[in-house]
Amino acid sequence: MSFNIAIDGPAGAGKSTIAKLAAKELSFIYVDTGAMYRTIALGLLRAGTDIDDEEALKKQLSGIAVTISYENGTQQVFLNGENVTGLIRTEQVSDMTSRSSAKPQVRAKLTELQRTLAAKEDVLMDGRDIGTMILPDAQLKIFLTASVKTRAERRYQEQIEKGESCTLEEIERDIEERDYRDSHRETAPLRQAEDAVLVDSSDMTIDEVVTRIVTLARERM
Ligand code: DC
Repeated sequence: MSFNIAIDGPAGAGKSTIAKLAAKELSFIYVDTGAMYRTIALGLLRAGTDIDDEEALKKQLSGIAVTISYENGTQQVFLNGENVTGLIRTEQVSDMTSRSSAKPQVRAKLTELQRTLAAKEDVLMDGRDIGTMILPDAQLKIFLTASVKTRAERRYQEQIEKGESCTLEEIERDIEERDYRDSHRETAPLRQAEDAVLVDSSDMTIDEVVTRIVTLARERM
């Protein structure tokens, strides 16, 4: 049987950085489910879909195929066969992802893909509803969080390094809004599974968080 680790938590808690490193150390496959939702959002944006029109959404979704593969251990996402890994991190896609991932039809489309992967391989899967909905029997569940202030400061640094102009206040507001939307939506809201281990990374280094997760996993393997 495969060993599954679920890591959930809000945007900016460091999930993907930490999940990638922990997966490498454990020789697990890292599955970034946010990238899958982003791929669907890109497809919907390209088609100019009104996602609040259920019929239009259904029609567009039937023409969208999301697949993944691994290149040198790094997940690549494909939209109808096109590698879109480099196109899904824009603000426009982030915003559409936050809105479209609240739609049950969108979530239903990815549930099977995620469960099939986890059934076949030892995976470390990160997202929002992995421990609560997708892999309720995961052998290890982590809820990784950090204060809004810490997350905003991290994102601010990233934006500045990319040469993008923004203020810390704007980013804090944006994070608060997205947290609210992700945790108050009807379908698969972001919440900690009862049996998840809470890890607050606000005052921890990346290495400390990775070590914590790897240690917990080894104890249960
Ligand atoms: O983790 P991320 O920032 O790439 O996620 C992008 C968006 O997708 C975010 O608004 C939350 C949503 N998401 C989700 O609803 N369920 C998941 N399993 C992963 C991401």
